[in-house]
Amino acid sequence: MRKIVFVTGNKGKFAEVRDILSARGIEVIQEKNGYPELQEEELEPIAAYGAQYVSNKLNMPVMVDDSGIFIKALNGFPGPYSRYVEDNLGNLKVLKLLEGEKDRAAYFKTVIGYCEPGKEPLVFPGVVEGKIAYEERGTGGFGYDPIFEYHGKTFGELGDAEKNKISHRRRAIDKFLEWLDSQSLEN
Ligand code: IMP
Repeated sequence: MRKIVFVTGNKGKFAEVRDILSARGIEVIQEKNGYPELQEEELEPIAAYGAQYVSNKLNMPVMVDDSGIFIKALNGFPGPYSRYVEDNLGNLKVLKLLEGEKDRAAYFKTVIGYCEPGKEPLVFPGVVEGKIAYEERGTGGFGYDPIFEYHGKTFGELGDAEKNKISHRRRAIDKFLEWLDSQSLEN
């Protein structure tokens, strides 16, 4: 059976990816020790480097995922610093930064990095475009969900099932799966 190591400390993400890939005959193994994160303005090089680093270290195929929210009026901030900003500022302070700002455009992005030992890493981005709300709304989800509005509802109001159909993470996973499927056709 084909095996892929997924580097994540997050149980929910691991279970989701494990279930999807096991339906395709791939065993997913969780690796909780993270990877060195490059300081970059984009998620792609961070995910690519992380996947390649761990793949060469473990001598196994490895996937990682890295996400962030990019706010247009803040020139893409917090982007790759989303975790740090969530932990140290939080949604209310992000809203404060946008006080009086009419351009509320923002997007969530996930990049999956995948690498096999000795090979070049591949990246699979997924994006969902929306707006930053004027206040937190909804009790569902996590992180920036209560301030990210998509078609009139925040991700916090949407519920997990609906969100997971259209989320940035889902879109990145779908692209990765498409590529995996094309590979098994070739082999
Ligand atoms: P990570 O790369 O998945 O750890 O995400 C980086 C940061 O973005 C963390 O602060 C997450 O809480 C936040 N984030 C990632 N995905 C989402 C999401 O779907 N909704 C809300 N916040 C998210």
